[in-house]
Amino acid sequence: MYIRTEKPEDVEAVRNVNIAAFGRENEANLVDRMRGIGATFSFVAVQSDRVVGHIFFSPVVVEGKCSRNLSIQGLAPVAVLPNYQRQGIGTLLIREGLKECGRSAFQAVVVLGHPDFYSRFGFIPASRKNLGCEYDVPDEAFMVFELESGALEDCSGTVKYRSEFSLCE
Ligand SMILES: CC(C)(COP(=O)(O)OP(=O)(O)OC[C@H]1O[C@@H](n2cnc3c(N)ncnc32)[C@H](O)[C@@H]1OP(=O)(O)O)[C@@H](O)C(=O)NCCC(=O)NCCS
Repeated sequence: MYIRTEKPEDVEAVRNVNIAAFGRENEANLVDRMRGIGATFSFVAVQSDRVVGHIFFSPVVVEGKCSRNLSIQGLAPVAVLPNYQRQGIGTLLIREGLKECGRSAFQAVVVLGHPDFYSRFGFIPASRKNLGCEYDVPDEAFMVFELESGALEDCSGTVKYRSEFSLCE
């Protein structure tokens, strides 16, 4: 099993992974809407020539006060085919994705998800860095990971995802 950048021929398989993992089309449609937008990353997990997992990152902005211009990615969605879950594929997708965000000079990554899962990778509640979510979600579910230590020090405000997300629910 390995992780690589999504290729044009993966589009249908990526759609299938998201629909199978989430049990609905919302996330697959979101990825289709966002594909090709600048500074987005899309990676797939491949096992025996089959796309079994997918992760997507897109830029977010902080509406508030920041002493410098920050480049922050939003991790969403991440999905693994049901029959392939709990084998470490999601973990590898997230780790490789975070590495790529760091290599591409992003300073932080936010995610909306289960705290027990994402804390493994170093994500902490974004509220501890004075960042809030634009959506009405439990405090601990909106998390941030600093790729550059201290990057969020003088920053506070509400994190806004791209407008394509508003069509997701
Ligand atoms: C979340 C997901 C991508 C994880 O992929 P995966 O390949 O199964 O993950 P890994 O095998 O690397 O890690 C599995 C661990 O994650 C935990 N985990 C997975 N999904 C979780 C969830 N929704 N809440 C809490 N923990 C979760 C499992 O408990 C497991 O822990 P364990 O190893 O101690 O048993 C996959 O379960 C999935 O596609 N889920 C449906 C879509 C989804 O909810 N995506 C995330 C939205 S934030």
